[in-house]
Amino acid sequence: MPLSEHHRRHIIELLEQGQDLPPDYKHLLFPPERQEYELVYAGKEREEDILAETMAVPLQPVKTFGGNGDDWHNMLVFGDNLQAMKTLLQWKAEGRLVNPDGSRGVKLVYIDPPFGTGDVYTISDDPGAGYSAKVRGAQYIEFVRKRLIFLRELLTNDGSIYVRTDYHFGSYVRVIMDEVFGRQNLRNEIAVKRTRTLKGEARRFHTSTDTIYFYSRGEDNLFNGFRLEKEKPEWVEMHLPGERKDESLLYRTFFGKMYKAPPGRRWVLSQEAIDDAIARGLIKENPNGGLPLFLSKFQTLGSNWTDIPGYSKTHNYPTENSEVLLERVIMSSSNPGDIVLDAFAGSGTTLAVAEKLGRRWIGIDCGKLAIYTIQKRMLTLREGIGNKGKPLRPRPFTLYNAGLYDFSQLKRLPWEEWRRFGLLLFQCRDEPHTVGGVQLDGYRGADDVLVFNHLQHGGVVLGYGFIDDLHAQIGGKVGARFFIIAPAASVTFLEDYIDKDRTRYYILRIPYSIINELHSRDFEAITQPVDESQVNETVEAVGFDFIRLPEVECEYRIAPREGQLMDEAVIQIKTFKSRAMVKGATQKGNLETLSMVMVDYDYDGEVFALDAVFYATDIEKNGWEIRLPLEALGKQVMIIYIDIYGNEYREIKTPTEFQAQGAAHA
Ligand SMILES: C[S@@+](CC[C@H](N)C(=O)[O-])C[C@H]1O[C@@H](n2cnc3c(N)ncnc32)[C@H](O)[C@@H]1O
Repeated sequence: MPLSEHHRRHIIELLEQGQDLPPDYKHLLFPPERQEYELVYAGKEREEDILAETMAVPLQPVKTFGGNGDDWHNMLVFGDNLQAMKTLLQWKAEGRLVNPDGSRGVKLVYIDPPFGTGDVYTISDDPGAGYSAKVRGAQYIEFVRKRLIFLRELLTNDGSIYVRTDYHFGSYVRVIMDEVFGRQNLRNEIAVKRTRTLKGEARRFHTSTDTIYFYSRGEDNLFNGFRLEKEKPEWVEMHLPGERKDESLLYRTFFGKMYKAPPGRRWVLSQEAIDDAIARGLIKENPNGGLPLFLSKFQTLGSNWTDIPGYSKTHNYPTENSEVLLERVIMSSSNPGDIVLDAFAGSGTTLAVAEKLGRRWIGIDCGKLAIYTIQKRMLTLREGIGNKGKPLRPRPFTLYNAGLYDFSQLKRLPWEEWRRFGLLLFQCRDEPHTVGGVQLDGYRGADDVLVFNHLQHGGVVLGYGFIDDLHAQIGGKVGARFFIIAPAASVTFLEDYIDKDRTRYYILRIPYSIINELHSRDFEAITQPVDESQVNETVEAVGFDFIRLPEVECEYRIAPREGQLMDEAVIQIKTFKSRAMVKGATQKGNLETLSMVMVDYDYDGEVFALDAVFYATDIEKNGWEIRLPLEALGKQVMIIYIDIYGNEYREIKTPTEFQAQGAAHA
């Protein structure tokens, strides 16, 4: 694709200012060479288009846990990882992701994306179903590939990525990783344990392993390796294959006698280390007269990791990975203080282990269940791997929304932050400039953008008069399209645009949910699962929306527990309607948009600590009733009702309130 005049100018400016080029420019300038062989499937997009067209969504801080004032806070992001990663890539370019060694970006990525399992991916005998399964399979591969491209861009040059997959799509993921990272950068194919118990199966072996593909971004990756303690120490010889030319590695003195390393090999230890080991009784003469022997207590870890569990059930999250597994990954490919990213964070195993090992972390997940599970996990951490030992207070971390925003918080932003938020939300570049004496804020493509300063203008509203005045100053000096970003409440007319001579003035309102005119693709909301089996499905969200409280009406009462003496606290859901603006949401009937209900049995008045989750499918089977053990309830209970688009309605109840209503509804 030839470079446009605008692109050329922008690239020259960036280079003159000594700044890094955004990755989409790099690809325009140096299109990647075609591979000799590659995976072909329908809907495979060009890498440069993926990088350029993915929408960056602002990260809105929701809450910071523990201390303020540090330069760096670990990050937990609620949203689609693709859009969030595009924003993080901008953070990398701005120098906001820096490791202790000065390198920019994340040092290590661990992801365990949904494996693409389930009926929809299974090729059945029915030709129609088989075709749609193939399409879904291709979509799955493209889903993973897009994310791998962004992950590669986020990595430091010496960074590494570990991707867990299983037999369903593992071989395709590997081919895709060869394309994205380069085949030469495959470091290992690691076998991890999948099941604890083995079942007999008809016509095949039970699948007992998953695979982790470990790739590096470049040829010079940081790698510490990992040592395992041997059950029984062994006496071993102390040489490695190595350069013969370097004489200094070939001779060592043991017990006053010089020894030469065997042909083609070199000594592992320096003379100083040997003397020290002899003094500590770790080296002895060979009783058979051969080379001296070293008492080895450790062995190097290979690529077979089936000696440890691959999954854990500590936090009750489907597909929760084990902490010992993440310990190996994080110790091997990062150093203390380095930034570790998990873009499919789930229950937060990567983040918890990173915290324990003194690394910094970024976690992204589009599921509310994951976010609340992680929040609680971080606040109830224990020092040891496997969640053992003394309680550990995590370093400060901030929860962000990416794509679903709280407008009431936004309105309180100071002008400069509001301005940046608005520009990013509508994919505009922050490049202040003046036209006809008017201070403008940036560009959307090649068109000028003004962010309406509702704070400075005080009572001034954005009406026809404002557009007339603006046009009087800049008319004829701007192009065919001009964008004004403004809070919806400040705009007094309803039109999406106003034509003046040859310029169309577009109003981009905040909040504003669906802007079809401006986006080639329709927005897709994040979707939340309605039962446990959906927790591990792929979710793709495009665009943004503003939080709208669902309409919820419930009865709270006490009822006898079936067959037992103890009573139960009962929530009877009468009405649940989402008020989300996304397409189709308003057409859904009562109770159709409920995803799940989460409960904190003993809410401390500050942080919601998830104790139980009830999925809509199960609640429905129960006649839209949720039953809580009365004896587990503290002074107050927090209940969060979540719609399938991720909007929440929160309710705090005391056990007495259940009682009081119980009397009324008895
Ligand atoms: C297999 S789980 C990860 C489990 C995790 N490794 C652990 O130890 O708990 C996959 C996660 O990916 C999340 N997910 C799926 N699509 C996503 C997307 N587009 N953006 C962010 N998260 C996504 C799901 O919500 C789910 O929590």
